[in-house]
Amino acid sequence: SSINIPVITIDGPTASGKGTVARIVAEKLHFHYLDSGALYRLTALSVLRSNIKIEDVGQIASIASHLPCRFADSRIFLADEDVSDAIRKEEVGIMASKVAAIPEVRKALVSLQTGFRKAPGLVGDGRDMGTVIFPDAILKVFLTASADIRAQRRYKQLMEKGIPANIDSLRNDLIERDLRDTQRKESPLVPAKDALTLDTSHLGIDETVERILDWFAQRSKN
Ligand code: DC
Repeated sequence: SSINIPVITIDGPTASGKGTVARIVAEKLHFHYLDSGALYRLTALSVLRSNIKIEDVGQIASIASHLPCRFADSRIFLADEDVSDAIRKEEVGIMASKVAAIPEVRKALVSLQTGFRKAPGLVGDGRDMGTVIFPDAILKVFLTASADIRAQRRYKQLMEKGIPANIDSLRNDLIERDLRDTQRKESPLVPAKDALTLDTSHLGIDETVERILDWFAQRSKN
């Protein structure tokens, strides 16, 4: 059964560097990688493209439970369309944090997420990987960084992609999204009791990855 397949969970707020770090950790260990935020973003994109209102919980949950998504070669497909870039847009992220607050949507996405647990192992990246989806994970990491640093990182990412941005409005969006993610009733963004917290405000990506790989090596010995 999948119970014996090791899972590393990496949770934390938006723009904490989780995505990049989780992807590299998965690569180094030859583990599978679950970008759970992408599932909320795919749901959000589908909602934005429809006439469905945010109040229409049943319809949104139905979209989430029938997502025609496919992950292949680091690209994300919705039906046959490559939506890898479309789901990264700021407006999609904001809608994602709204649909993610709907309990029925979260429930609809559980089995899709646990299905990613395949040999030889999985790195799950999100907000509730360690608390709700993989409570038996061998290693749970909670990554944080100050809002200022996270806004700077997001700004740099957008600039590199040639997308115009304003650092103050990015910081405000981050703080607003953090509030919504941490204060919702259903699976709020909190560290699992047994999570190891790492503040990456002054840590580079390589150092963060090294720390997580060391922790994992220690856990695997016991
Ligand atoms: O990590 P991200 O920015 O791609 O996530 C988009 C939104 O989805 C984020 O605002 C919170 C939500 N989310 C969640 O509630 N639970 C997860 N496991 C992952 C993301």
